[in-house]
Amino acid sequence: MDLFEFQARDLFDEYGVPVLRGSVATTAEQARSAAERLGLPVVVKAQVKTGGRGKAGGVKLARTLDEVTEHAEAILGMDINGHTVHQVMVAEGCDIAEEYYFSLLLDRTNRSYLAMCSVEGGVDIETLAKESPEKLVRNQIDPLVGLDRDTADEIVAEAGFRPEDRNRVARVLVQLGRVYRREDCTLVEVNPLVKDAFGDIIALDGKVTLDDNAAFRHPEWELLVDDSSTDPLEVRAKSKDLNYVKLDGNVGVIGNGAGLVMSTLDVVAKAGEDLPGHPHPANFLDIGGGASAQVMANGLEIILADEQVKSVFVNVFGGITACNEVANGIVHAMRMLGDKATKPLVVRLDGNAVEVGRAILEEFDHPLVTVVDTMDAAARKAAELAAQEA
Ligand SMILES: Nc1ncnc2c1ncn2[C@@H]1O[C@H](COP(=O)(O)OP(=O)(O)OP(=O)(O)O)[C@@H](O)[C@H]1O
Ligand SMILES: [Mg+2]
Repeated sequence: MDLFEFQARDLFDEYGVPVLRGSVATTAEQARSAAERLGLPVVVKAQVKTGGRGKAGGVKLARTLDEVTEHAEAILGMDINGHTVHQVMVAEGCDIAEEYYFSLLLDRTNRSYLAMCSVEGGVDIETLAKESPEKLVRNQIDPLVGLDRDTADEIVAEAGFRPEDRNRVARVLVQLGRVYRREDCTLVEVNPLVKDAFGDIIALDGKVTLDDNAAFRHPEWELLVDDSSTDPLEVRAKSKDLNYVKLDGNVGVIGNGAGLVMSTLDVVAKAGEDLPGHPHPANFLDIGGGASAQVMANGLEIILADEQVKSVFVNVFGGITACNEVANGIVHAMRMLGDKATKPLVVRLDGNAVEVGRAILEEFDHPLVTVVDTMDAAARKAAELAAQEA
């Protein structure tokens, strides 16, 4: 999970990383009163989980309260790389003397952490890395040790910080290293890390990515989740622990196993190619191995709640969970859903106990359920049904 800048700021603050005071606002009035509290000048900053905010006009200095209102009005609602700005952070203005770069990230290839540091920050770091790679110092960090003071001292010396700044910068790097480890991050990036007019080192911007695999030991992360830019069906699916991704077509797809579902999307798209309206997949949904009737019902319920869906293709390969159990799951799911099941279902079963599975569905004899033997024929049938309904 990526954090917003203001969330990263708060996290840094908890660990003693020097940051500026700031306050989040969702309206221009709130931004103005935040600026009154903080004192002028302030910087109004778009809070979106994407880079290049400054270049897009999403970071603006305001010297008067009217300028705060003006900038907040312009930035709220702005689109930055496909992300709509719903909130801004009003931050204290900083008298910047120098801008540096620092990041710590997970280096999967080398099974370690990688620290990157440069005395030329604030700029587009990718460009710096390409055009003057010698200015971006890279250090492998042993994950069992973390970023200790000795390594931080080496980094700042190698990066070419002035001797009088090294101590202060190294101290901040160690604090950022603690954030990285204790908060189970895969990325902590500060661009720019600045020296202000008093010689103080401050993290002026922060990008933090938390490792979702560690969520089980961070119940407090719940509070950081932001659903405002996620599809509402995806939010609902997530609350039921379903592996669902909304797509833009009209054929709902359910399968067991990510690989099978991926290829199901392909055959459905292919089958719809030369049909009127080009029916194509409405979603990815993997109910996994060992799916119970309840999981099948939850999955069907999400798919049927998608107004674009005209037909549903259930593609299951029986393995540990045999086809008879899956068929029973479908029967139970249709009963549970009752009137809510309104769209035609094409079911293809294969694998373990396939004959029994098919027999169960035949006996069920539901007017909306069609059993088709092969994956291609079933995809074709589901696409045709969607084309008819469209
Ligand atoms: N509080 C502040 N006071 C003074 N100047 C600031 C402040 N915040 C940002 N700036 C200036 O604006 C520049 C861009 O800010 P910031 O790094 O936060 O956004 P960005 O880099 O454009 O966004 P992103 O990191 O998403 O690409 C900084 O390099 C700095 O020069
Ligand atoms: Mg930045």
